[in-house]
Amino acid sequence: GFAIAPLLKTTGNVTYDPGFMNTAATKSAITYIDGDAGILRYRGYPIEQLAANSTFLETSYLLIYGELPSATELEDFDQKIRRHTLLHEELKGFFDGFPRDAHPMPVLSSAVSALSTWYQDSLDPFDPEQVELSTIRLLAKMPVIAAYAHKKSLGQALLYPDNSMNLVENFLRLAFGMPTEPYELDPDMVKALDLLLILHADHEQNASTSTVRLVGSTDANLFASVSAGINALFGPAHGGANEAVLKMLRSIQADGVSPDAFMEKVKNKEDGVRLMGFGHRVYKNYDPRAKIIKQTAHDILAKQGANELLDIAMSLEEKALSDEYFIQRKLYPNVDFYTGLIYKAMGFPEKMFTVLFAIGRLPGWIAQWREMMLDPERKIGRPRQLYTGHASRDYPQA
Ligand code: ACO
Repeated sequence: GFAIAPLLKTTGNVTYDPGFMNTAATKSAITYIDGDAGILRYRGYPIEQLAANSTFLETSYLLIYGELPSATELEDFDQKIRRHTLLHEELKGFFDGFPRDAHPMPVLSSAVSALSTWYQDSLDPFDPEQVELSTIRLLAKMPVIAAYAHKKSLGQALLYPDNSMNLVENFLRLAFGMPTEPYELDPDMVKALDLLLILHADHEQNASTSTVRLVGSTDANLFASVSAGINALFGPAHGGANEAVLKMLRSIQADGVSPDAFMEKVKNKEDGVRLMGFGHRVYKNYDPRAKIIKQTAHDILAKQGANELLDIAMSLEEKALSDEYFIQRKLYPNVDFYTGLIYKAMGFPEKMFTVLFAIGRLPGWIAQWREMMLDPERKIGRPRQLYTGHASRDYPQA
């Protein structure tokens, strides 16, 4: 049978902590979360205040450089990003190599990884000038890559970025615009997407951010590290929950199940059914991001008239918040409960939801990577294990 290796031999003390539930892998001055109180702050600023007053561009600056920019600094940052939106023409050829129905997440991670083949000076992660350039290039080009992945899946032409537009406007035009007519921006949509990106911009040491740090801890460059983060986000347990919420709402609608009957199924744990978009590993209170986004969901969806899916979502939330099962287990709506509905109302297909999350999380990944590279206590990430396999045994002789 199996020997219990730690009893056989241990080299010093090892903490066994599956899922890193209690292990702080780093010190960080970027994002603060108090899950019991439902608090989220970037660089000390409450998420509610940033959501009400800031922009995604400004919040990105704050996360990456540590302070809110002056007007000149923000203008300079904005201009630099606008100047770097073009993709190398050869990189555009990349999109033809994937199947038409490819999921845009692996297209995004591949193209981001490939950036270091065009910008080979970026391979040195200790050159501050290159790190700065890679930062700007990623912020400018990743939304363009994401929009192109979407366009290719539709068989539509790739437009050139229009640098009279800001980052969010440009992304919407590249994703939805056609070469034959001018694209009319909907200011409500621009504002809603900007807000969603702010809310996703960082969330301390979640799985994808920890991945970015782990890959970066080997001195891999920023493009390689961020590409790995995108792949970590691809998993349904991390970035795919908003897609799952929408699927749940649609199946309730299609089956004609009442919200009450569905809730009974959840509480009885029938077929392992969960109320998607509820519960969170860290928040044991209302996810502060969900509170902010709930109103936006109403505003955006109201513009489109009656929305049965939103009604179902509202009814489920109302029932859950007054139900002992959910109260006892501290299950509250998380940010994903509403985001899928908003993205769908904006016209994004479900496959793009996680890509939008990645665009939002990018400044957080960059900020965390940069913080790590400057950390004097930085070490290569190398977890230990408790060995549970066979003890030594001999290779069978013929
Ligand atoms: N619906 C019904 N019951 C639930 C739910 C839910 N959404 N979430 C947790 N529970 C129950 C569990 O069955 C368990 O009950 P028990 O004590 O009777 O066994 C108890 O609550 C604790 O659940 P855990 O899975 O241990 O909680 P954990 O903190 O590990 O899980 C998670 C958090 C994975 C997010 C979970 O709440 C879940 O699966 N939610 C639905 C999926 C989802 O919305 N994910 C998005 C996360 S947010 C993000 O990635 C941005």
